[in-house]
Amino acid sequence: MARPALGSENLGMTHNDEGEHGLPDSVTITDNRTGASIEIPIIDGGVSAADFSKLLPGVWFYDPGFSVTAACESAITYIDGEQGILHYRGYPIAELAEKSTYLEVAYLLLNGELPTSAQYAKWVKDISTHTFIHENVRKRFLEGFHYDAHPMGMFVSALAALSTFYPEAKNVFDESNREMQITRLIAKSPTLAAAAYRFSRGMPFVYPDDELSFPANFLSMMWKTTEPRFEGNPVLIRAIDLLFILHADHEQNCSTTTMRVVGSSQADPYSACAAAAAGLYGPLHGGANESVLKMLSSIGSLEDVPAFIGAIKAGHGRVSGFGHRVYKNYDPRAKIIRDVAYEVFEVTGKNPLLDIALKLEEVALADDYFISRKLYPNVDFYSGLIYQAMGFPLDMFTVLFAIARTSGWLAHWKEMLAKDSKIARPRQIYTGCAERSYVPIESRS
Ligand code: CMC
Repeated sequence: MARPALGSENLGMTHNDEGEHGLPDSVTITDNRTGASIEIPIIDGGVSAADFSKLLPGVWFYDPGFSVTAACESAITYIDGEQGILHYRGYPIAELAEKSTYLEVAYLLLNGELPTSAQYAKWVKDISTHTFIHENVRKRFLEGFHYDAHPMGMFVSALAALSTFYPEAKNVFDESNREMQITRLIAKSPTLAAAAYRFSRGMPFVYPDDELSFPANFLSMMWKTTEPRFEGNPVLIRAIDLLFILHADHEQNCSTTTMRVVGSSQADPYSACAAAAAGLYGPLHGGANESVLKMLSSIGSLEDVPAFIGAIKAGHGRVSGFGHRVYKNYDPRAKIIRDVAYEVFEVTGKNPLLDIALKLEEVALADDYFISRKLYPNVDFYSGLIYQAMGFPLDMFTVLFAIARTSGWLAHWKEMLAKDSKIARPRQIYTGCAERSYVPIESRS
């Protein structure tokens, strides 16, 4: 049976659905200024703000950071932050991490179901035939950056620049055109990322190799030198694919919300992805993996960990890679990454910062400051240790996150357009001056 939609017409109606204690599954709000009251059903854990505003026109919900606001309905990713549960389209993240590939997961996120063999073969072929970037993106655009440009700045800008190469992407309601741009974005993001890296090192660009798998091709574009074909280590290829799976989506985080907000104005997907990637760049979001490594290096030794935690508790900064808006338990992705780290270190040698990270986790998780605030390691705490051991420079870490999250951003963009969502346009609580008259400059004190 179809469930009722949030925001159904129900002002003044009594809602009959019963909750688990035999009481109505609803809330009743009374406006004490007028005595008027409204009963609003609780549906899928949400109440309709549109229903509230029928009772309270001109009264806005004040929720900076959207801590308690659901901005959309979505069927893509489910998180239970208290239990530390993460599902993509109903599949537990640990199962996908163990059994799937990044491209299969991207297909799942975008289409709602795992692909059949034929669908998967076509999807892989489509992606591998769209990995090339226009020569001018590299020669005229990327090579115009200063030699020490941060690769994330280059990546964000290059995504936006792609919109000028595919002007038809503006037709966001043409389904086949939309699918083409989705394929291009997922296929080209590793190429842009590797191109930014190679430029920053003064190394020649490596063309994509469509005979290689998605992660193997990326590593080839990153590391290939004089060999005819780059043969990546299978453990490292699998590790990077798995990290891409874990980073592919995470429902309404800062960058995905940006994607939806920009997409809601019907901007083309390259511009919207560039905006989303800019949201990811900050140290409180995808930039945290880079900050974790800087933090671990600055701590220096195991003996200095307790003093570092003491300084945090005294209000001097935050532990990067700890805490989460939604998880009030161990981030399930962090657990998987910690285990993969050992497999990678078998090949690369142990990252010397691992011991400091483990000690930091141990000290923090035994400390009442972290226990009472339910602060646990998040996805960014251990990922950087793996990236560094594999040879990625610190400033590439967030770019790696962005490659993977591109599929999540696009799944949300596609879902949003299919629902014909309204343009994002929140309200504000105005706290500025009341009306006043202009004062000529010579009369101002
Ligand atoms: N270290 C120390 N204290 C912390 C931390 C931390 N990492 N995170 C939160 N707190 C404290 C915070 O000071 C506050 O304490 P009090 O109640 O005494 O003021 C309390 O915990 C609640 O913090 P909040 O800022 O209200 O929580 P939030 O939900 O707004 O922020 C967060 C979530 C992820 C931005 C935050 O935990 C943080 O800054 N973490 C470090 C950055 C980080 O690891 N970001 C990656 C997030 S996961 C992957 C991703 O999204 O990209």
